[in-house]
Formats: sequence, structure tokens, C-alpha cells
Amino acid sequence: MSQWKEIDANAKKWLKEAGESIKASFENKLSVTTKSNPNDLVTNIDKETEQYFIQQIKNSYPDHRVFGEEGFGDEIETLDGIVWIIDPIDGTMNFIHQQRNFAISIGVYKNGKGKLGYIYDVVLDELYHAEAGSGAFLNDAAIPKLEKTPVSKAIVSLNATWVTPNKRIDHQTLTPLVKDVRGTRSYGSAALELAYVATGRLDAYITMRLSPWDYAGGKVIVEELGGKVTNLEGEELDLINPSPVFACKPGLHEEILHKYLLNEKK
Ligand code: IPD
Ligand code: CA
Ligand code: CA
Ligand code: CA
Repeated sequence: MSQWKEIDANAKKWLKEAGESIKASFENKLSVTTKSNPNDLVTNIDKETEQYFIQQIKNSYPDHRVFGEEGFGDEIETLDGIVWIIDPIDGTMNFIHQQRNFAISIGVYKNGKGKLGYIYDVVLDELYHAEAGSGAFLNDAAIPKLEKTPVSKAIVSLNATWVTPNKRIDHQTLTPLVKDVRGTRSYGSAALELAYVATGRLDAYITMRLSPWDYAGGKVIVEELGGKVTNLEGEELDLINPSPVFACKPGLHEEILHKYLLNEKK
């Protein structure tokens, strides 16, 4: 078995095992605490799930490093070697309030290049996955390549925060786009929003601040299908620092970037 096939088989096994533990936790009372502000929530399950992955990865691959949201992994300043970028529960607020609409997200990178991507919707038992160069899948079904959609027929995911006064973007920047698209949505899990861009349920996803673990898995999957995952200037994301993220179908990415985000006149 090739190195990446073996890592892929292990990652899928660990995702299923972690998913079973998360589902079993629905029976128990959660311990919820806050991080940077009263709406920035974390639970014992976020922490236990991250620790579970780190233990499995370090047992099997002692030389791989882990970059995880809850901080149990390594201090990451460069992406040299093989780095697993992990969000144990993406959509913690949904996990706590809804017991659905959350996912485990994992990206495995070698020297900064995405090799494997996973987004696991635990409740629906839907695993979105891709190996760079070998196609992307939802469970066992191949996901078709993405094709261009015009803005007028696009469904774009964005949070209402970004069209009300906020500290990250002039809130009127996105008003013309919101007016011109067919519809807007917001799901509260960046990883699932990227999975929905990958499967064409959404045409684009725009947000002002994500951390690498929010998009590391989804970026591999969306790019494998011909989509683009960049910042709002259309530049590469650095996978170490937080930044705005714009994930989109090919063609539509250029249209939204130039006409709406960079506001270039024709
Ligand atoms: C959050 C979710 C949310 C996004 C936030 C993220 P978390 O991740 O992806 O949709 O808007 O920026 O921090 O904290 O639930 O893993
Ligand atoms: Ca969080
Ligand atoms: Ca997250
Ligand atoms: Ca998280």
C-alpha cells in the first residue's frame, strides 16, 4: 500500500471511531466553557476528540505534526514535513444547540501542499474526502467536477454579520452581491459550507475570518474538483494565520472577485 493510501485508510478509520464517540456523547451532559468571548464556545467533546486524533496520529506516525484548534497538538510556525490540520468539531455552537450541522475537519499537508482532505458530517454519516490528484468523494460516490454558474443563478453562503457594521469589512461591500445572487445561506460550520461548495449545493462561500483548521480539509476537496479557495484578493491562503476566505466554483470566482470584492469597473 502506498504511503498516502495507508494514511487515508487510517484517517477514515479514526474519523468513524471519533464520530461514534461524538454520537454516544449526545446521551451525556456536555461541559461547555467559553474562550475568547461569551459566544466562542468549547465543550469537553471538542477537546477529547482532538486528543483522540493526536494520540492515534502520534502512535502511527511519530514524525508527523498536528495543528489543532484546541491546542493539544504542536506549535506550528512552518508547514515543513507532514502536518495534520484538525478541527475536532467545526460548528461547536450548532453541536451544542442543535446536535447537528457540525463536522470533523482534517487536512493533511506535505510541505504546505494539500494531500488529503476530510469533512465528516457525523450525524448524517456523510464523509466528504479527497486525495489530491485522485478525485473527491462523498462516501463512496465520486463528486463531479465543478462548473461555472453565473452570479444571477448562484447561492452564496455568508453570515449576516458581514452585511451589518463590523470591524473586518465595510458592511456595504457585499450589498451589491447579495442583491444580484439568487439566494444567500448561512450554516454555521465553515467545513460544511466548503463541503457544500464542493458538491454544488452552494456556489460560493465568503467569510471574513477563518483559522487554518476551519478550511484545511475543505480546501483540498474543493480544489480537487476545480474550485478555488483564496482570500478576498484572490491570493493563496497561508494555512498558518487566520484570514478571510472565499471559496467558489471556477469562473464564478473570477466574476465575484473582480466585480464585487475588488469592485473593478468594467
Ligand atoms: C467556527 C465555524 C463558524 C465560523 C467560525 C468558526 P468552530 O468554527 O466554522 O461557521 O463562522 O469562524 O470559528 O469554532 O465551531 O470550530
Ligand atoms: Ca471553536
Ligand atoms: Ca472551526
Ligand atoms: Ca472547532
